[in-house]
Amino acid sequence: MKLLITGGAGFIGSNFVLYIAKNHPDYHIVNVDALTYAGNLENLRSVENHPNYSFIKADIADRAALEPLFADGSIDAVLNFAAESHVDRSILHPEIFVRTNIMGTQTLLDLAKQYKVTKFVQVSTDEVYGTLGETGLFTEETPLAPNSPYSASKAGADLLVRAYHETFGMNINITRCSNNYGPYQFPEKLIPLMIQNALNDKSLPVYGDGLNVRDWLYVEDHCSAIDLVLHKGRPGEVYNVGGNNERNNLQVVRTILSELGKPETLISYVTDRLGHDRRYAIDADKIRQELGWQPKYDYENGIKETIRWYLSSKDWMEQILTGAYQEYYNTQYSER
Ligand code: NAD
Ligand code: DAU
Repeated sequence: MKLLITGGAGFIGSNFVLYIAKNHPDYHIVNVDALTYAGNLENLRSVENHPNYSFIKADIADRAALEPLFADGSIDAVLNFAAESHVDRSILHPEIFVRTNIMGTQTLLDLAKQYKVTKFVQVSTDEVYGTLGETGLFTEETPLAPNSPYSASKAGADLLVRAYHETFGMNINITRCSNNYGPYQFPEKLIPLMIQNALNDKSLPVYGDGLNVRDWLYVEDHCSAIDLVLHKGRPGEVYNVGGNNERNNLQVVRTILSELGKPETLISYVTDRLGHDRRYAIDADKIRQELGWQPKYDYENGIKETIRWYLSSKDWMEQILTGAYQEYYNTQYSER
C-alpha cells in the first residue's frame, strides 16, 4: 500500500509515520509537510533513510506542488493530518487556519478525486462538537457547534470531506479524537508547556479557574485507531476516538508538578482563553464495537511515560525553544 500522509512532521503525524513504519514495514509512505513552526524532521530521524519513506516539503493548499505526487496514480490512500492546530493561535490569526485547514483539505480532496485515490481519511477533532456541560458525551450524531476559529475551520473541512462522499461517491472517513499527549508534542500545548516551565521553575499559566475538562488519549492509541479506520472504516463514516480519561487542567498540572518534584506555588492563574470550551468527553463505542479498537495506555501510566520522555529529550526541546518560540510565548502570556 502507498500512503500519502500530510502533516507527518507534526506531533500526531510523525507518531503515525513511525507507527506505520513499525506495524506495516512493507507500506510506502510519502510524507508531505510544509514545515511550519510545528513541523520538525527531527521526529523522523529513525525512518528518514528507509527505502519505503520519502519526504516532500509542500503546502497542502498548493495544488501545483501536490499534483505530481498523485499524477502516476500510485497513491492508495491519503491521510490528512496537516493543519494549523493550536486554538490560541487561531484567536490571534484566524486567516491561516481557513487557508490550511479548509482550502488545504479541499485541494487534497480534489486531487484524490481526480486521481482515483481509493481512500481518504480526514484526521479531525472532538472540538468540532463545541462544548459539553457537566454531563454527557460527544457521539458521532452530536451536532457540529465549533466555538473557536480553529474548530470552525476543522468543522468546515469535515463538511467538505462529507460532501465529496455524498456528491462524488468518494470513499472517505473522518476521525474525531479528543486531546492527545505523548512524545514530540510542540510546547505550545498544555502538557509539554507545563513540563517545560516546571523544569525551569517558571510559573505555570493556568487559564481561568483551571477546571476545564479534557479527555486525554496517548498518541499511539490515536494512531492505532486511525490505522483501523484506514483498513476497515466503512465508507462515509465518522468515528469518534477517545480514552475515557477526563481530567481537569489543574489535575493535569498537579500531576506534572508532583512527578517532577516541583511545588504547587508555581501555578499561576491567568486570564482565561476567549471562548474557552468547558468540557470535552468522547463516546468511542462505535469504533470499539465496529472496528474492535482498544486503547493500550491508561492515563496514569501514559502521563508518567510522557514526562520521562520529555526529561530524556532535552536536546529536542532546546532546538524548539528558539527566538520564534520565545516571541510567541511572550505575545501569548505577557498580558495574561
Ligand atoms: P501539529 O501542529 O503538531 O502538526 C501539524 C503539522 O502540519 C506540522 O508538521 C505542520 O508543519 C504541518 N502543516 C501545517 N500547515 C501545513 C500546510 N499548509 N501544508 C502542509 N503541512 C502543514 O498538530 P497535531 O497536534 O499533530 O495535529 C495533527 C492533526 O490532528 C490536526 O489535523 C489536528 O486538528 C488533529 N487533532 C489533534 C489533536 C491533538 O490533541 N493534538 C486531537 C485531535 C485531532
Ligand atoms: O480536543 C482535541 C484538541 O485538543 C485538538 O483538536 C487541538 O489541536 C489540540 O490543540 C487540543 O486543543 P485544546 O485547546 O484542548 O489543547 P491545549 O493544550 O491548547 O489546552 C488544553 C487545556 O489547557 C485547555 O482547557 C486550555 C488549557 N491551557 C492551555 C495552555 C496552553 C491552560 O490552562 N494554559 C495554557 O498555557
